[in-house]
Amino acid sequence: MRIDVVTVFPDFVAEAARVGVVGRAQERGLLAVHGWNPRDFATDNYRTIDGRPFGGGPGMVMLVEPLRKAIHAAKAAAEGPARVVYLSPQGARLTQRRVEELATLPRLVLLCGRYEGVDERLIEREVDEELSIGDYVLSGGELAAAVLVDAIGRLREGALGNAQSAAQDSFSDGLLDCPHYSRPEREGGDAVPAVLLSGDHAAIARWRLKQKLGRTWLRRPDLLARCELDAGARALLEEFRREWLAAQV
Ligand code: ADE
Repeated sequence: MRIDVVTVFPDFVAEAARVGVVGRAQERGLLAVHGWNPRDFATDNYRTIDGRPFGGGPGMVMLVEPLRKAIHAAKAAAEGPARVVYLSPQGARLTQRRVEELATLPRLVLLCGRYEGVDERLIEREVDEELSIGDYVLSGGELAAAVLVDAIGRLREGALGNAQSAAQDSFSDGLLDCPHYSRPEREGGDAVPAVLLSGDHAAIARWRLKQKLGRTWLRRPDLLARCELDAGARALLEEFRREWLAAQV
């Protein structure tokens, strides 16, 4: 998969994609990230990419022309269609499901805004989808693009060490992840839950699902409300609730 990022800070996005699992995915040829600076497509001596907003108001707006040229150059740099995604707080909220869908595409072009944003006419003509990484405002789209590149990159087949780890992620089944433990078995006064040391794989799977359900109930009831739980899962959640309520007194 190839991801082209249109940004005034191409080095930032490239550097963020060089570390960890995503860096390894790039080294293995599973993912390629390229930066495009709209300043390189500005036509005046000052390499201007922003202007004052019509109608007045604070801040500057990114101009259509340098962004359009940068997007077109990014698209033309490789074969095949590329979906153009603009990162902005006005976008639809990014979810793991959307990340999984985007990770199946051969190409993406990510557009990062700065200042007050991007001239709306560019969004209307060139952007296929607007995405937000959360209900807060960053000073630019670069961190959001880096988040998206990371979330996609780790899903590329072969990027994660253990093929099962992506399937076990939080959100991949609509639930939060269960707690994890490693050595030592006793840390200060705290022991690892005994079931995890039992070697009973069915009991461990049951415990993990119960924890996932319980954590989602406690921390993200909104997610749980959207899950269709079968009778077994409902019974496990009920068991978790009972134990949790009993421990509160
Ligand atoms: N740019 C600024 N804030 C953002 C956000 N929350 N998500 C995506 N892009 C952004």
